[in-house]
Amino acid sequence: MGGTPLITVPVELGPRSYDVTIGAGASRLLASVLPSGVRQAAVVTQAAVLTSVDAGVPSDVFVLPDGEKAKTLSSVEELCRGFARAGLARGDVVVAVGGGVVTDVAGFAAASYLRGVALVNVPTTLVGQVDAAIGGKTGVNLPEGKNLLGAYWQPGAVLCDTDALATLPEREWASGRGEMAKCAFLEPRPGAGAPRAALAEMTLEDQVAWCVALKAAVVSEDEREGGRRMLLNYGHTLAHALEALGLAGGPVDLRHGEAVGVGLVFAARLARRLGRIDDARVEEHVTLLDAFGLPQEIPGGVRSGEVLEYMARDKKARHDLTFVLDGPRGVEPVHGVGEGDVVATLSAMGALS
Ligand code: GLY
Repeated sequence: MGGTPLITVPVELGPRSYDVTIGAGASRLLASVLPSGVRQAAVVTQAAVLTSVDAGVPSDVFVLPDGEKAKTLSSVEELCRGFARAGLARGDVVVAVGGGVVTDVAGFAAASYLRGVALVNVPTTLVGQVDAAIGGKTGVNLPEGKNLLGAYWQPGAVLCDTDALATLPEREWASGRGEMAKCAFLEPRPGAGAPRAALAEMTLEDQVAWCVALKAAVVSEDEREGGRRMLLNYGHTLAHALEALGLAGGPVDLRHGEAVGVGLVFAARLARRLGRIDDARVEEHVTLLDAFGLPQEIPGGVRSGEVLEYMARDKKARHDLTFVLDGPRGVEPVHGVGEGDVVATLSAMGALS
């Protein structure tokens, strides 16, 4: 393959362990990472995805509609009907080639079809490579909220081909940097500290590998989000609410990681308001988001009441207002946050009352 060597990061999950391979040309390993005995592959992608793959076995290609609109239960039904027509059997494989929408939808289809067939992810966006393709959460949106329907279904391998990022539009880069910024505020191991500013200076391959290693460590410890995995939702409660609002026709046009950027500033400001962190720590968030060129304001025309409604519906919010917030012990879930504090923080960031 030549050039910079590939980086391998293991995700340790006992019998469901797998490797994430990162670097230029990594997708060319596809045929070698398929489970033994695979006779046929279903390659799921979107028209905008320019990466093509060779699974080394007869393959049918299934093209989802473009954008987040494809993340519906009807897409999963369409895919599974297509798999059945193509004769995909239990020993075969689904290969997801694309961003988070593709890996989420194809992953849920792989988890459901014949009660589960093997899955390999080839993420082609930065968000996909640092986050969405790893960890086993698959699923689709409902009109009531993001990711309300899904399954845990781990891939057998993940190939993060950094060559695939060459044609990524600027806003998709920004979106990936939003997820990276989140990682910078989490600690790889409790007490280990996170690299923050250093992350912005690393090579792309090292940035991806660092974020993957952090996620792999968290997922290995808490696959089903009973505890530490909740930390990966840092910045996501507001992000998901804004995204859901946008999907419902509201005045929000943010990519996932851009919404996470706004969510991180919101989380820092809320933590400051609750006396959990000081101004300097809020500033650290702002500085990193500036370095990554990410938005930090609530989009114009968004009302705090509608944001609150979506936040309350977020599956991560339990039955009270729960946020993952920074504090003296680092980032952790905080339950029972007062509505008044949330609304005041949203208003200070430009939300209408
Ligand atoms: N598929 C994304 C995750 O498991 O977090």
